[in-house]
Amino acid sequence: MNFLVTGGAGFIGSAVCRHLCANPAYRVTNLDKLTYAGNLASLRPIENAHNYRFEQADIRDERAVLEILRRDDIDIVMNLAAESHVDRSIDGPGAFIETNIVGTYRILNAALEYWRGLPEARQGRFRFHHVSTDEVFGDLPFDGGMFVEETPYAPSSPYSASKAASDHLVRAWHETYGLPVVLSNCSNNYGPYHFPEKLIPLVILNALDEKPLPVYGAGCNVRDWLFVEDHARALELVATKGRPGESYNVGGNSERTNLDVVEAICDLLDLRRPRAAGGSYRDLIAFVTDRPGHDRRYAIDASKIARDLGWAPRENFDSGLARTVDWYLDNKWWWGPIREQRYAGERLGQGSIENSPTQNSPIEHKTFESSPAGNGAESRKVAT
Ligand code: NAD
Ligand code: DAU
Repeated sequence: MNFLVTGGAGFIGSAVCRHLCANPAYRVTNLDKLTYAGNLASLRPIENAHNYRFEQADIRDERAVLEILRRDDIDIVMNLAAESHVDRSIDGPGAFIETNIVGTYRILNAALEYWRGLPEARQGRFRFHHVSTDEVFGDLPFDGGMFVEETPYAPSSPYSASKAASDHLVRAWHETYGLPVVLSNCSNNYGPYHFPEKLIPLVILNALDEKPLPVYGAGCNVRDWLFVEDHARALELVATKGRPGESYNVGGNSERTNLDVVEAICDLLDLRRPRAAGGSYRDLIAFVTDRPGHDRRYAIDASKIARDLGWAPRENFDSGLARTVDWYLDNKWWWGPIREQRYAGERLGQGSIENSPTQNSPIEHKTFESSPAGNGAESRKVAT
């Protein structure tokens, strides 16, 4: 079975590529534009695998996507490519509109053209799996309620609004043109290779640098945390066994306040890497101005995917967080260059909209043959 994973150099996409490549019956093409969030170092464990190849391209480039679908004889598209950080969407929504909405529209067009040209038996097997978020459902009160698949969409941020729009497009391509789509809406992921703009890796690395640990507002907002490898297994099930036209909620059943999360990280670090000057990392916690439009609580009811596809998470929050903290302690080679060259942890998302340079970035397309020596980035450029 041949997969096209878009956004496969990102946090979740790279976990999906690593997971799928462990199955020798699968072939995986990773299509990624390599924005600030894309990192080929996250594919190091599979970069020389016989069933893996990387393609630098933009999902807005319909022609490039169509060529790749045909060349690699794709059976399943898993669309993870996106701008994903809420705070950046507050500062520069344009890039979110471009990739998450226009990009999804363009890749749907490419997929539809490709699918229409397949023989009937292959058409029946083809899937377009759109990977979405629980944030499309909006804000839950602190004292109850959970998101089910039928919960009406009520996004609060430019990010979640752009993801909601893309979900609607995907459903429309199913209803109108018959494209066999499946969708999944997942809660907050955490784990290895997580870009350190998001709460958990930011707090781990700021603590190791003896910098303040920023907690928005009073730290009482609640998220439902899922270990990224559990999400990757869920995504494989949805893509290969999900029913066309259906969506599946995915969550960890691990609701925590942000302050609970930050304190748990501090306590793990106190044991594993005690501060040189003594005292607890909790002393670095700093309450800062809240995020504009900050949703209070997310909580996922994942009973449909459990019942229909037999999925359950393997990690609980304590075991997953311990694995995550240990991974960051052991893998400075991965995050050191990011903190030095791409993002050092400064505050984002306080509401002054910029015209982000990524907003109108040109569409680029480079093809890389996998090279035994490198990770794809050093490989031969054969087309633009
Ligand atoms: P990420 O920001 O770590 O990775 C996104 C990847 O997409 C990057 O590698 C980037 O280079 C690539 N990309 C961006 N624009 C592109 C374009 N125009 N063409 C091709 N590639 C492009 O994101 P993530 O956290 O791994 O999230 C992946 C997907 O899962 C997103 O669609 C996100 O909305 C969804 N999601 C994330 C979470 C979470 O907790 N992180 C939870 C639920 C759903
Ligand atoms: O729910 C799924 C979503 O989870 C995904 O769709 C998004 O792509 C992903 O980024 C994530 O969104 P959040 O906004 O929930 O994640 P983030 O790590 O940015 O923030 C988690 C919580 O922590 C949120 O309530 C805001 C808070 N926070 C965040 C940062 C970066 C802080 O208190 N301090 C911080 O410095």
